[in-house]
Amino acid sequence: MLSKKEIIDQLKNVLFPGLSKSIAELGLVKNINIKDDKNIDITFALPSLNYPGKEDIEAHSVVYLKDKLELENINVNFEKMEPQEHQAFQQKLTKEEQMKLQASMIPKYEKHQLKNVLVVTSGKGGVGKSFVTSMLATELHRKGLSVGVLDADITGSSIAKFFGLKQRPVVMNDKIVPVETNTGIKVISMNLLLPEETNPVLWRGPLINKVLEEFYEKVEWGPLDILLLDLPPGTSDTHLTIFQSYPVDGIVFVSTPQDLATMIVQKGINMANIMKVPILGLVENMTHIVCPNCGEKINLFGQSQGLKVATKYNTEYLGRIPLDPKISSYTDEGKIEKYTNDNTDKIAENVKANLELD
Ligand SMILES: Nc1ncnc2c1ncn2[C@@H]1O[C@H](COP(=O)(O)OP(=O)(O)O)[C@@H](O)[C@H]1O
Ligand SMILES: [Mg+2]
Repeated sequence: MLSKKEIIDQLKNVLFPGLSKSIAELGLVKNINIKDDKNIDITFALPSLNYPGKEDIEAHSVVYLKDKLELENINVNFEKMEPQEHQAFQQKLTKEEQMKLQASMIPKYEKHQLKNVLVVTSGKGGVGKSFVTSMLATELHRKGLSVGVLDADITGSSIAKFFGLKQRPVVMNDKIVPVETNTGIKVISMNLLLPEETNPVLWRGPLINKVLEEFYEKVEWGPLDILLLDLPPGTSDTHLTIFQSYPVDGIVFVSTPQDLATMIVQKGINMANIMKVPILGLVENMTHIVCPNCGEKINLFGQSQGLKVATKYNTEYLGRIPLDPKISSYTDEGKIEKYTNDNTDKIAENVKANLELD
């Protein structure tokens, strides 16, 4: 006589799609009705009824049970998990597994008319992410590309400051029109929407996610060769939201020589791998200074680690940027579009070579 226990024991071998835990172990088997030795009904509970792995769960369990228990008919039903079932399910998953699952369940935004969407990120703050974003926007625009910058650092936005922007975006036909910089780069930043530039933004995750959605879906970016996203430091909720929902083509990772020697870069790269977003390359910032009198290059932190680290993680070394007082003064004056040098030009050239532009 076929028993429920036998069926559940077999389902301990059927893995949840994308995870290394079984559907039985994760509590998906909600109900089993044995009609006779050859025919059964099974009800699986799922986190959501439109879970994309649903077909796989059905197909895998049917094939497996038919084979192992010599069943003829297996009628599969799905139900949405009750809140306490969902909680128990979540508790059985590691953080990484939760992230994987979330990533597979959240719908991606359309690409619209954006040829390339790149994210600029780093392990921590103050390494020059926002500068690199502004610099890349400027250099790529100089090379004839149409460029937009979306400041995704909602609580610490600084892109408007780099470009000296103060005007508020207008709304036309129910869409927000990005503000244009002196040279014609389109920008959206929380700073531009706040009554006072210095108003602190103390919002919590869900509200920030809402803003991130609007910055993408409600803004009239129009056709662009490239949209650059400036991210907040670390690996925050914002990172998860962006990597899950935005159609990101690649990540530009910014780091300083000190960080390259630590686990900070590794962490960021791990996250990118889990979220299945390709890393376009690594920019090493603040590597050296150039003597204003004799032009000699002084490596402040010994030999550059950038190339070694990039090679280790199988990504491109896009180049390095010196510690240059002009960068901070142009930042303070909101004139970053005036800045250029051989290094930044080369980095932009390397980035451009990776873009889809046809
Ligand atoms: N290579 C550099 N040389 C001099 N100043 C720099 C350099 N890179 C960044 N800065 C300055 O350091 C400060 C922090 O940079 P920012 O890009 O805002 O960092 P993050 O966005 O990573 O927090 C800014 O004032 C910026 O102008
Ligand atoms: Mg920043």
